[in-house]
Amino acid sequence: MTPRNPLDLRKFVAPEFICGSGALQLAGRYAHNFGMKQVLLVTDPGVRAAGWAGAVGESLTEAGVSFTVFDSVSVNPRSRQVMSGMEVYRSEECNGIVAVGGGSAMDCAKGIGIASSNMRDILTFEGVDRVPVPAPPLICIPTTAGSSADVSQFAIITDEERKRKIAIISKTLVPDISLLDPEPLTTMSRELTLDTGMDALCHAIEAYVSNASSPMTDMHALEAIRLIHDALPAVILEPEDLNLRFSTLLASLHAGLAFSNASLGAVHAMAHSLGGAYDLAHGRCNALLLEHVIPANYEAASEQYDRIGAIIGPVQGERTPPAEGIAAFRRSLGITGTLASVGVGEDAIQTLARRAYADPCMVTNPRRLTCEDIERIYAYAL
Ligand SMILES: [Fe+2]
Repeated sequence: MTPRNPLDLRKFVAPEFICGSGALQLAGRYAHNFGMKQVLLVTDPGVRAAGWAGAVGESLTEAGVSFTVFDSVSVNPRSRQVMSGMEVYRSEECNGIVAVGGGSAMDCAKGIGIASSNMRDILTFEGVDRVPVPAPPLICIPTTAGSSADVSQFAIITDEERKRKIAIISKTLVPDISLLDPEPLTTMSRELTLDTGMDALCHAIEAYVSNASSPMTDMHALEAIRLIHDALPAVILEPEDLNLRFSTLLASLHAGLAFSNASLGAVHAMAHSLGGAYDLAHGRCNALLLEHVIPANYEAASEQYDRIGAIIGPVQGERTPPAEGIAAFRRSLGITGTLASVGVGEDAIQTLARRAYADPCMVTNPRRLTCEDIERIYAYAL
């Protein structure tokens, strides 16, 4: 590969964020500071049932800010959900958005914001820098540690008609403030903790080997890998430990700062294609693909992969380090499936590969993969 030059010009975009216990309770104060009078509170039924949307609502009420709850958000948020959220935003005459939830609620909130300010269908923004009018103010409160939608300039929306995910990448999608509180993470299931944790690991690894990486993103990516490697196995055993939950949240923050600015690669391009076609959990798709992408990319970023191997633990095996170490890490967490075990058939591979090839995340993969290369990786992961 072409050697990276640390002097190459790079831009780094990040929102304001506040981390620590009780950050969630600052939602009302910040909504008031942003001049929000009527808020669209975007969440999902699970987060609402766990009480976190209610806690944010109380904070808004205490600050004298009115709100309307919109919780018609599913895993892998759909374009129709975004457009119905936009209808509610307009009919309730909202002037700001507060998102409390995982990547799905936050991505849906971002979509509602840009669809409202531009009065356009959400699917028309697909690609890089295609949002002309900035969104209204957005406050994010993540309840998972992985998507990093609360700091990133990405939103992933499912086009349900065509059963595919679209990636919208724009500086206008960076939230105005992110409130990072470890407490909402304590109600996550073991499965959600693992899937979102593996998503964060993929963000960090893909950002680190990305051909748009920089010294600034490298620093965040490596710290994220180290934190996930240490904290994810521990938090599964002690799910209510706030210090461990906070370590996973910090890991997600570091990974988000890295990938939002260095972008991603083949794992995400292939996971988007899979998630769109089969409506699978995004983090699980990444977890099942990561170790199979590394051997295809290794020669193009061997120095970076070896450094990752030194953290995750290279294991002597048949596959390229650190693919073996990552496979062992995944198995140690109890993630044992394959693509076939989640319902993917061999006959789907060609279509999946074609869509992954066209995904914007593929542009920053360290090696230019052909459709045939991608088909082979899917086949290994079956
Ligand atoms: Fe992701």
